[in-house]
This record gives sequence, C-alpha cells and structure tokens, in this order.
Amino acid sequence: MIEIILLVSSVLFIFALKLFGRPSTAHRANTFAMLAMALAVFSAFNFDFSNYDSAFYITIIVSGLLGVLISKRVQMTQMPELVGLFNGFGGGASGAIAYVELSKSTLPLSDYFVAIFSMVIGMFTFSGSIVAVLKLRGKLNNVNTTIANIFSAFLPPLILLPAIWESEILSLEYFMLLSLIAGIIRVAVIGGADMPVVIAFLNSLSGIAAMSAGFIVNSIILIIAGALVGASGIILTLLMCAAMNRTLLDVLKGGFGSKSINNEYDKDPISTSPEDVAIQLSYAESVIIVPGYGMAVAQAQSAVKELTNTLKDKNIEVKFAIHPVAGRMPGHMNVLLAEVDIDYEDMYTLEDINSEFSSTDVVIVLGANDVVNPLARTDEDSPIYGMPILDVDLAKQVIVIKRSMSPGYAGISNPLFINDNAKMLFADAKEGLEKIIKSFELV
Ligand code: TAP
Repeated sequence: MIEIILLVSSVLFIFALKLFGRPSTAHRANTFAMLAMALAVFSAFNFDFSNYDSAFYITIIVSGLLGVLISKRVQMTQMPELVGLFNGFGGGASGAIAYVELSKSTLPLSDYFVAIFSMVIGMFTFSGSIVAVLKLRGKLNNVNTTIANIFSAFLPPLILLPAIWESEILSLEYFMLLSLIAGIIRVAVIGGADMPVVIAFLNSLSGIAAMSAGFIVNSIILIIAGALVGASGIILTLLMCAAMNRTLLDVLKGGFGSKSINNEYDKDPISTSPEDVAIQLSYAESVIIVPGYGMAVAQAQSAVKELTNTLKDKNIEVKFAIHPVAGRMPGHMNVLLAEVDIDYEDMYTLEDINSEFSSTDVVIVLGANDVVNPLARTDEDSPIYGMPILDVDLAKQVIVIKRSMSPGYAGISNPLFINDNAKMLFADAKEGLEKIIKSFELV
C-alpha cells in the first residue's frame, strides 16, 4: 500500500513539474505538488501513528500552520525570498538527517560518504540561503571577493585538519561548521541582483542534499523528489545564466557590476511629456509594451492594464514583449502582468516578437534597460555582449519611461536612449503612465 502511495506521489510530482511549464496550468500544478507532498509526508508514518509522541505531532501541526501563514502573507515581489528560505530549511533538514545518521556510527562504509556529502551540501545550502535572503532584503552588503578567495585557498588544509584528530564526532561537527562558513562566504561575495540565480542554484543543491539523505534513510520518495528538485533547479539556473550570457561560474565568482564602467552619453536625449506621448499613441495602430525591473519597483502593473484598456478601446493593437531575464526573477514580468489580468495571449517571448518591432508604430519601454540595450549586439567589451535582447532600437518610434539616465543592473549606458527614434519620459513608471492615461481624456 505504501509503495503504491509513493508511486502516486512521484507521478504527481512529475505531472506538477510538467504543468508548471505554462502560466495557465501553473495553478493546477501547485495543487498536484501539494497533494504529492502530503502523500509523501503521510507515507513516512507508515500508517502507524501510535509510534510517535505528542511533541512530534505538535511540531508537524505548528510547522504546517507556519508555512500556510507565511505563504499567505508574502507579497508577490518577496517570492524569491520565500523560496530561498524554504530551500535553506530543506537543505538544513537534509544536513541534519545526515548528521544524525553519521553520529550513530553504525553506517556501512558505502553510505558513509553519501552521508558526509549530504551533510556538507545541506549545511552549505542552509547558511547560503539565509545570506541570500538577507541580501534580497537589502540587510547585507556585498563582501569583498578577496575574503572568499583567501578562504578558498585555506580550504584544502582546513578539510585535512580532522585527519590528525582522534574523535569522529568532533570531526563531524567541524565539517558541519566548515560547510556553514563556506555557504556564508560564497554567497556573501555575490551581488544582490544575482541572488535569483543563486537561489535557483541553492534550490538545486537542496534537492541534491535531500536525494542523498534519501539514500541513507532508504526513502524512495526523498530520492525521487530530491532528484526532481536537483535537476529542475540546475536547469533553471543554467537557463537564467544563458539568458544573461554569463556562466554559472561567473555568477558564483561574484563582483558583477562592481567595476566602474563608462556611463557617459555624448549627446542629450530627446525628452517628452505625458501629453505628447498620449497624442503619439492615439495616432498608432500597433503598440508593444516592454516591461522591465522599473515596472516592478513602481508597482505600475495596474496602470499598465488601464493604459492597455484605453488603447484597445481605441482599436489599437497592444502586445507585451517579455525578455526572459527582465526584472529580477524568472517570470517576474509575467507574474506582475497576470496579477492584473493581462491576457497570456498578449504576452510574447523574445523569439516570437523580435521580428515585429520594425513594423510596430510605437514601442513603450517601461522601466527596462539592459534587456533593450543594443550594445549587447555591437560592443564586444560590454559585460552584456552576446545577451539576446529585444530589438527595440529597430522600431519606428520608442518611448522610454524611467526616472533618469541611470544605468540598469549591468551598470552600463544604453545608446537606445539617445537614438533618433527614441524619446525619454522621465518619470516613475506608475506616475508616468497615470499622467499619460489622464492626458488621453484631453486628446
Ligand atoms: P534593468 O536593466 O535593471 O533596468 C531597470 C531600470 O528601471 C533602471 O535603469 C531604472 O532607471 C528603472 N527604474 C527603477 N525604478 C523605477 C521606477 N520606479 N520607475 C521607472 N523606472 C524605474 O532592468 P531590466 O531591463 O528588466 O533588466 C534586468 C536585468 O537584471 C538584466 O541585466 C538581467 O541580466 C538582470 N537579472 C535578471 C534576473 C532575472 S531572472 N530576471 C536575475 C538576475 C539578474 P531609473 O533609475 O533611471 O529610473
């Protein structure tokens, strides 16, 4: 019976992953995953509930309620933090299982190394995830990369140190401490904006730690679920790196965006006003909106919806061009736009929309910068060279809504802003859109 339940649970996990692939089925995917997890947890009891004392049940109920409470209160923009926290606890739990099994000292040699591996990876994930969450909250600044380099240089002798100790238990605790410190230092040197990639990577590590813990305690479902998390986490990490044209090693080395790069413009941009933008839009037949990180900062999605409705009422076609790494987390823009009921059919991927820019009347770049920077195509010395971008510079007319000429995440200037076809509306994304919508009433 237990084996059948575990089989159902595994199949549900796999189906859930498949359904997560499309925004329209993601909700169902969550239900499947919840069901799979519930089955997995209950199968761990072996249906023999008498074996456990009340403290055990209190822990399960309290932690379950805490999970519901935290998830209900979390804002959409805090989702990476929540995922980071869950990864950390998952890794910590696997590391703790491995530690307990190792301290029993009855472990066969074949399991011994798997358990050490699980403990090290689990503890690394735990401390690394906590640092990642603190960085996302802006509570921790970047640590100099030299500290990490010095620590890495001393790591091999530090690992060999227990070889001269007598006590096995002390060595275990020493390894645990070393893994915790390694997690803190490795993540602390990586820039705050790279945290989504780091969180996806730590997610993968937490899966690997769980999978190896599953081998030690002989839990099929822990092995399967851990392998799924490990594999999907690393695929997501590599996709994010590829979309930024950086390697995982580059991200983990840290220090991105800390070098001072030339950020000067050799001519002034053409600025525009909300009234002029409204007039320009009212003559258009087709409009593409390119949202970016600034839309998320300004929480401008409701204003975007209102502008979309206004334009559609005037029979103007509106499409959204979504770059895979626009914003600061995978699917950031899709989630914000879905929140205000923008149709999925109106959201286009980079590959699908790039050929349409040149035939579109007006393109609105809303708080986006790096994802529309033509230097990615032309300047081999640029840190974003080779990153696929939205070819907004080829459009007939471009309106860029942002507060200043400040650079984006990569810290570089963007020649699009001084292009002859581009006008800058210097404003907060939400306020700028609201003023444009108001101006429409006068057009
Ligand atoms: P960015 O290049 O970071 O540019 C965002 C722009 O938004 C800034 O230039 C800023 O200019 C503007 N802005 C900020 N607050 C604003 C507000 N309240 N109203 C209007 N504009 C505002 O954003 P992007 O184009 O979305 O590119 C994303 C970047 O993040 C890429 O370099 C990507 O590689 C990186 N990244 C992405 C991810 C994922 S998974 N999405 C993960 C890690 C890193 P002002 O200050 O002048 O307003």
